[in-house]
Amino acid sequence: MEKFVIRGGKPLMGEVTISGAKNAAVAILPATILAGGKCVLENLPSISDVGACLDILSAMGAQVRTINKHTVEIDTTHITKTMVPDEMSRQMRASYYFIGALLGRFGKATVSMPGGCNLGPRPIDQHLKAFAAFGAKDSVDNGMIDVQASELHGEEVFFDTVSVGATINAMLAAVMAKGTTILENVAKEPHIVDVANFLNTMGADVRGAGTDVIKIRGVEKMHGCTYSIIPDQIEAGSYMVAAAVTGGNVLVKNVIPKHLEPITSKMEKAGVTIEEFDDAVRVTRQGDLEALNIKTMPHPGFPTDMQPLMTVMLALANGTSIVTEGIWENRFRYVDELSRMGVNIQVAGRVAVIEGVQELLPAPMRATDLRAGAAMVMAALAANGVSEIREIDHIERGYEDIVEKLKGLGADIKRIEKPEGAVLKQAH
Ligand code: EPZ
Repeated sequence: MEKFVIRGGKPLMGEVTISGAKNAAVAILPATILAGGKCVLENLPSISDVGACLDILSAMGAQVRTINKHTVEIDTTHITKTMVPDEMSRQMRASYYFIGALLGRFGKATVSMPGGCNLGPRPIDQHLKAFAAFGAKDSVDNGMIDVQASELHGEEVFFDTVSVGATINAMLAAVMAKGTTILENVAKEPHIVDVANFLNTMGADVRGAGTDVIKIRGVEKMHGCTYSIIPDQIEAGSYMVAAAVTGGNVLVKNVIPKHLEPITSKMEKAGVTIEEFDDAVRVTRQGDLEALNIKTMPHPGFPTDMQPLMTVMLALANGTSIVTEGIWENRFRYVDELSRMGVNIQVAGRVAVIEGVQELLPAPMRATDLRAGAAMVMAALAANGVSEIREIDHIERGYEDIVEKLKGLGADIKRIEKPEGAVLKQAH
């Protein structure tokens, strides 16, 4: 199995450049189907989830041309298939965005049912509620979900839960529906706004993204465009934590500081110094880390995807912190792995009570999911001695060149290649 071998205990110093946002990219790539033309996407992160999306687009009949590491041209003119091959859609949970995009363009889509994952159940009832409101019927057969409409029409939809996926999927399905759609109680994450901006650049009429209500006037046709994806807020937050837990001094470049505010304000409260520039933040930590309480919430609340990383930081803080997971039912599974490093964390349901310790001990660990895996990397960087992290395919789904980026900050980290015959684990 591939693994990271990390010798920690050194403050990270220097500059790191943040890549494009994974959660915007995995929605924008399927959305290119709506163009029925050529789109050039810039600032695409070079991560395996993006590779999986591009493979699906190619398999559907799109022409995909790599211009450089972060720029791809996708021509969706000749797509005729509306079924995403099962084994491909299973590689990535966000393949549900192919439902909205295919439904929006062709009035039908068949995609494998997204399974549960290690964050707890991940239903898509709110996605289906929006599709049904627009006139589509859905059925599940042999693990595949089939959604069809003879004609999509705009409608008012009030979501019962604030959902990133359902908000984006509803936008994808509605942009070419007849009439006006009003989406209420929507998610407001930066990547929602990015997807809306991309759709508008392709000729859609989407207003209000970033607020609680999105209004969409259906257009007859959309077209190709050139678009640059926003920087990844969570990747940025991850390197901010790396600087904080190692007592380092890191300039995190290519960020939108406003998107980082929910993270910045908590880190400052914990005693980390953060200086904001136009498109960068400098993170330094000299004194002790202090305990604090966090509850994860939809944007602009504290992002759930930063929860494992903040938990690692607070594991090293003076005093008792309480972290409450407000989005996912089961997002503390990684704590068992972290306990190998001598952390003192008690989990009861969605609440973790963290008693800070003076230092983390190096240990072998297994990445349990993407962000938890990143949190383990940061914990290993803080621990004096050699730690190993296995099942790193989870981490590589969402972090571009993590080894090179950390090495650039002075970290001692190596990626050990897999021996013959190792199996890639299913992504979540
Ligand atoms: C997105 O997942 C992200 N993934 C997740 O990031 C992130 O944790 C999550 O949003 C919350 O911010 C992508 O963007 C690809 P939701 P998504 O729909 O869209 C419930 C990462 O680490 N719900 O906002 O699947 C659901 O169970 C990943 O990058 C319903 O009940 O999340 C959850 O409790 C992990 N019915 C809550 O809403 C639905 O139909 C929020 O889920 C949909 C969701």
